[in-house]
Amino acid sequence: MNTRSIRFRLTVWYAALLAGLLLVFGATSYFGLAGYLEWSLKDSLENQAQQIAVSHLADVGLTGEDYVIEEIKEHYAPEINSRFVRVTRGDGSVLYVSGIPEDQSFDPTGLGASTLDGDEPHTREVHLPDDKGDLLLYTMPFTARDGSRYTIETGAPFDAIESVLRGLLFTLALGMPVMIVLSIAGGYFVMRRALEPVNALTRSAERITSSNLGERLPVVNTGDELERLSIAQNNMVGRLDAAFTHIRRFSADASHELRTPLTVLRGELEELAQQSKLPEDSRERIGSALEETERLSRIVESLLVISRLDAGEARMEKKRFDFAELTAATVEQMRLLAEDKGISLVSDVEGSVEVEGDSARLKQVVVNLLDNAIKYTPPDGKVETKVRRNGGFAILEVKDTGIGIPAEALPHVFERFYRVDKARSRAVGGTGLGLAIVRSICAAHGGDVTVESQEGRGSLFQVKLPIVAHD
Ligand SMILES: Nc1ncnc2c1ncn2[C@@H]1O[C@H](COP(=O)(O)OP(=O)(O)OP(=O)(O)O)[C@@H](O)[C@H]1O
Ligand SMILES: [Mg+2]
Repeated sequence: MNTRSIRFRLTVWYAALLAGLLLVFGATSYFGLAGYLEWSLKDSLENQAQQIAVSHLADVGLTGEDYVIEEIKEHYAPEINSRFVRVTRGDGSVLYVSGIPEDQSFDPTGLGASTLDGDEPHTREVHLPDDKGDLLLYTMPFTARDGSRYTIETGAPFDAIESVLRGLLFTLALGMPVMIVLSIAGGYFVMRRALEPVNALTRSAERITSSNLGERLPVVNTGDELERLSIAQNNMVGRLDAAFTHIRRFSADASHELRTPLTVLRGELEELAQQSKLPEDSRERIGSALEETERLSRIVESLLVISRLDAGEARMEKKRFDFAELTAATVEQMRLLAEDKGISLVSDVEGSVEVEGDSARLKQVVVNLLDNAIKYTPPDGKVETKVRRNGGFAILEVKDTGIGIPAEALPHVFERFYRVDKARSRAVGGTGLGLAIVRSICAAHGGDVTVESQEGRGSLFQVKLPIVAHD
């Protein structure tokens, strides 16, 4: 998982935000509920004390204390309802006190006599001795109609509140991680869908190179930022395409324009060289100028070929022919050149391998590769040529036992004007355009060319061309 991806980072942010919000929400609910429960318990204790006072104790002078006790038991049944009720006379003696409730939630036996700060009713929390529970205790002074004074106390255990709060805490502790995990999973999934167009754009953008600038990225019709991005990228590719076309056309035009003056120059020089009146020295110089001009012409010709092929402007014949036969014939034509250098030329060309294309240009491919192989192989070496069929492709292999190409130079040998050893190549007459032509011709035929080489051991060039299916 890529932790720097937008998808991962957004999911983490989103999960962290959600966790924070859930925590705030959980804390608010917890403390809110705690406050409310305590308040409502207090309120109910207060009501109960008021009722005891007003409904039962007010007329104690008329009804008698036993009646009051019976009434409290009957109406409030503190032991059954887990409540604590105590009524104390003004002299401190107890009129009524409830016992241990049935559910044993607390034991009030150890609860000391109540104290009243002044004559104000108040609520307090009492921790019963010997760990017998916690009570919320409401204490209220009361004067009956006959003037006798009492203190009424009502209490209830905290336990109930605590167990509700514990329940809430448990639910939150269990629910929050589940919600967070679910939201992470959901977010990750949603994010994948949202970012899928980005992946599609990336994949298409990676496919576009200088050779297929005519292609465009898919426009995602989402109406959002991604659609704008894809349109903007397409416009950019369009501008690049125009710029590339301009450059290609420029080199083609430049080479083309150079041809005529060069031809004229060559003609003039040739004529000059033939004039016998000239001193020997001048004739030699003219000869050397002529040689350089011829070299220049070759370069310009080659450049023109490459530029036109790359610009897709070259007129190419589309004809079916036997590539194996063409190769075999070319090898025979080059045999003399090889033998001059003492190199043995082996050709292993079996059967017929039909391809469709421009045979003159494809012959150029074989010539250039063989020329290199012979040029860069010392005497007594060997150059092998093979043509075979492999799946839907015709494969041409030219293998030599020559000087090889250093690893760092391998990626560049198909570039224009690239020569591994400039001084040496110039001595053997190379311009560094031979392989560039090979590559352009192969590309124009929908094929490609690759090289493997080891310095000092030899090289293997492999050309792959789509073959014509026999129908
Ligand atoms: N078979 C080979 N063995 C060793 N080096 C090679 C071989 N083929 C090509 N090279 C290297 O790759 C470079 C480029 O080859 P390319 O054919 O493009 O140019 P060139 O042979 O120098 O000149 P040109 O073919 O234009 O006359 C060569 O200069 C040479 O250094
Ligand atoms: Mg060459």
